[in-house]
Amino acid sequence: MSVMATKTEAAIIPGNKNSKPDSSENWKAKLNIPDKDNRIKTTDVTATKGNEFEDYCLKRELLMGIFEKGYENPSPIQEESIPVALAGRDILARAKNGTGKTAAYMIPLLERIETAQNAIQALILVPTRELALQTSQECKVLGKHLDVQAMVTTGGTSLKEDIMRLYNKVNVIVATPGRILDLMKKGLADMSKCKILVMDEADKLLSMDFKNLLEDIISYLPSNRQILLYSATFPVSVKQFRDIHLMKPYEINLMDELTLFGVTQYYAYVKEKHKVHCLNTLFNKLEINQAIVFCNSVKRVELLAKKLIELGYSCFYIHARMAQAYRNRVFHDFRQGHCRNLVCSDLFTRGIDVQSVNVVVNFDFPQNAETYLHRIGRSGRFGHLGLAINMVTEDDEEDLCKIEKELGTEIKPIPSDIDKKLYVAEYQHQQRLQQADGK
Ligand SMILES: Nc1ncnc2c1ncn2[C@@H]1O[C@H](COP(=O)(O)OP(=O)(O)OP(=O)(O)O)[C@@H](O)[C@H]1O
Ligand SMILES: [Mg+2]
Repeated sequence: MSVMATKTEAAIIPGNKNSKPDSSENWKAKLNIPDKDNRIKTTDVTATKGNEFEDYCLKRELLMGIFEKGYENPSPIQEESIPVALAGRDILARAKNGTGKTAAYMIPLLERIETAQNAIQALILVPTRELALQTSQECKVLGKHLDVQAMVTTGGTSLKEDIMRLYNKVNVIVATPGRILDLMKKGLADMSKCKILVMDEADKLLSMDFKNLLEDIISYLPSNRQILLYSATFPVSVKQFRDIHLMKPYEINLMDELTLFGVTQYYAYVKEKHKVHCLNTLFNKLEINQAIVFCNSVKRVELLAKKLIELGYSCFYIHARMAQAYRNRVFHDFRQGHCRNLVCSDLFTRGIDVQSVNVVVNFDFPQNAETYLHRIGRSGRFGHLGLAINMVTEDDEEDLCKIEKELGTEIKPIPSDIDKKLYVAEYQHQQRLQQADGK
């Protein structure tokens, strides 16, 4: 039996005025809770104040969704964010990759939706279509026992279908900026009752790629809306936005240091022409659960994927110039674990959460610290351990030093043997068993 089910015996929800009286003897015991994740977790997610989800006076149905998702306790960013967001305040939150920012805004958002009202009450903006799909999935899973209607709308899909969907009840929209702005401008998405705007990966949404769209989108929202901004990186562009659009925001910064404790970073110094050979060696030596390999251009993604397949590796690839239906299939199948390796462009740099990825390879070294941080954050999700390996050529040396300095982190030269305990869960488990046995 899981720890949670045991705790249930004493589970009364003091002061939970929203919950309906428990008609059953023990509602928690009836939940369909997934097996406990016993992998080691770092203090990035375990250093909490000891709050429990039940402390927040959430609707019983929402708690059911949270527990059935397998969440036992709030992570540090969730502890900081949930009560403040529930109170309706604007938030500017910075927390490390994979530490649970999505639920940090999704839980209060779901709590604040009035399901009886047939109106769009919340808009979640994200920079990529795949992240929109993933986020709407999280909304549906956490809100499974609530009657919240969520819709995802992104470019690359049928506008007509979106229009048809909007004729029905929609409470929450998860969107990429271009498509939702289009729907607003055409008068199809009525945002007059939208009381919450979430900007996930806020700094990306405020970069030159989207900045003007964002200003337009905000002009369609009511003036008393709540705005919640989340990211692991916050350059200056966000400060300007804060000063103009946020009302006395509550600022959260859980990033005294920037990189994840669980991700060990190495570099391999190589010549450009030896990169494929180097990757081949890595693939042979490493114990890869699932790996994401980043390239700096669409063309290089395709070339590398082709080479890896020729070498006999199972490999998918994804980038923004592929047809959306195909992108969706690749994303879905990779998350399901149908393929060990994914070669991709920066399309997958932010927000994408595949828990079984334990190795990230920068086949091409990124040019800035934000991209580097988000890329390596695709492994080591929720405080787990992972590996980031950077192929560095002569041309990248300067960027390597710059990024190390900016992030205050050390990227070490790759040793000939990498300790599997650093990134393979089974080995950490074995070590713990041996320690318990006194070996
Ligand atoms: N309280 C919790 N208990 C257990 N797992 C959790 C909890 N909160 C979130 N998770 C899991 O942690 C993983 C990372 O969460 P999430 O994607 O929200 O991180 P993030 O902070 O948004 O990361 P990124 O900066 O990369 O976008 C997900 O698989 C999520 O289901
Ligand atoms: Mg995220």
